[in-house]
Amino acid sequence: MAIRDSGRLSTPFCAPICGSFFRMNVSLSPVVSRSGRFSEGPSRDVAAFSESISFDWRLWRQDIRGSVAHARMLARIGVLSSDELTAISGGLAEIGAEIEAGTFPWNPALEDVHMNIESELTRRVPAGARLHTARSRNDQVALDMRLWLRDEVEGVLEDIASLQLALVGLGERYPDVIIPGYTHLQRAQPVYWAHHLLAYVEMLARDAGRFRDGRERFNVCPLGSGAIAGSTLPLDREFVARELGFVDADGRPRLTQNSMDAVSDRDFIVEFCAAAALASVHLSRLAEDVILWVSSEFNFIRLSDAYTTGSSLMPQKKNPDVAELTRGKTGRVVGNLTALLVLLKGLPMTYNRDLQEDKERLFDSAATLRSCLRLMAGMLEQAEVRTEVCARAAADAQLLATDLADHLVVQGIPFREAHHLVGAIVAHAERTGKTLDQLTVDDYQAVSPRFSTSSPTVFDLGQAMARRNLVGAPGTDQVLSQLSRWKAQLSPLSAT
Ligand code: ARG
Repeated sequence: MAIRDSGRLSTPFCAPICGSFFRMNVSLSPVVSRSGRFSEGPSRDVAAFSESISFDWRLWRQDIRGSVAHARMLARIGVLSSDELTAISGGLAEIGAEIEAGTFPWNPALEDVHMNIESELTRRVPAGARLHTARSRNDQVALDMRLWLRDEVEGVLEDIASLQLALVGLGERYPDVIIPGYTHLQRAQPVYWAHHLLAYVEMLARDAGRFRDGRERFNVCPLGSGAIAGSTLPLDREFVARELGFVDADGRPRLTQNSMDAVSDRDFIVEFCAAAALASVHLSRLAEDVILWVSSEFNFIRLSDAYTTGSSLMPQKKNPDVAELTRGKTGRVVGNLTALLVLLKGLPMTYNRDLQEDKERLFDSAATLRSCLRLMAGMLEQAEVRTEVCARAAADAQLLATDLADHLVVQGIPFREAHHLVGAIVAHAERTGKTLDQLTVDDYQAVSPRFSTSSPTVFDLGQAMARRNLVGAPGTDQVLSQLSRWKAQLSPLSAT
């Protein structure tokens, strides 16, 4: 969530994000916890190549939460005494507080967040050496990622709902504004401004559904899968699952059912990144609309100065950078999904170190999507519609050419024929330099006697909008009821 994120960024690990992780006050000494199997640690080069702490530090809360649950379970089955459990839980809480405060002594030589926390705990609390009983970093990282994603999905859903509210709000502020709707970027038929915005509210609702749906599938506990083959010790997997909230609607624990799948499954990351990619594509389309709307050619809206930039050379410029960057960043989010799929496609069972590469793609997709959602919402909250420009554009009578054809249909003329007749009227108007609503009844009847004398009344825009009242159509009543439906659904934020 936004607040937590800023908390994280206040840790020393804002440095690694900026690519300067190794400027931290830490030594690249050989790995402390290397087992007896190795006579020396990895070379500096190898350590730098294989570390993940510069990005997986973000998992510290989840790592600690998982370790506390695991320790409680180890105490239940007699591996830890209650004093040892107290000491471990206290040590982990202390470490958490230090990470939060930015004073934890991270050590990149310890490779990743799991090793950093565990080895510091063991340095402080001897019983920490028992914590990794029947656990591997393979099931540990699978757990941490699921926990992280569960928290992150909450934040994404809130950000989606905020953007939806901003769109509904911008529609509500201009309930009477009508603009041309476009197909092929050619003026097609009139729509309420709010109807155009509500199209994006619908897209975002489907996005939210995809994130919720993915969460349903990944909210399953993998701990107890060990490195690949579970454990010979009598772990209580159900207890851990309950402790960590991996439960179904009836409170029953949800456990992964195959240890090999559990340690190598990254489907949930792909699903999240796929949902993020599609949501980004939606944002990119919205951004493109905004970019068109602020152009002098359209001139439908005005963005606040806070969301635009000037040109270093051309003094008159006011550029929609937030919208352009949102459109641009979509490339990254789509790329992250591709990178993940390619990462996974050739992996033999089960865990392979390649999987460490999933994190940067996931973190980047989540952070990029969330910042685009937030910025687009802020930009739209402050946008203003140039109502007079929209009214001029919507007054184009050609937008109602289809209404004229429908009018002929009501009089019994087959639609294909009506389409042809109206086409002839449009050509006549173009030839004579008039708009459709400027043609007289005589003009119409000169093209075809089938036009009744009442045909030109079709061009009353207010009446035309009132007529479009099928469910989902941009009719006056329909758009107002869609606006209030969405408003009720979104406030208070109810995306989860
Ligand atoms: N940092 C590793 C990752 O992100 C953690 C798992 C390491 N497991 C292992 N067997 N080396 O994938």
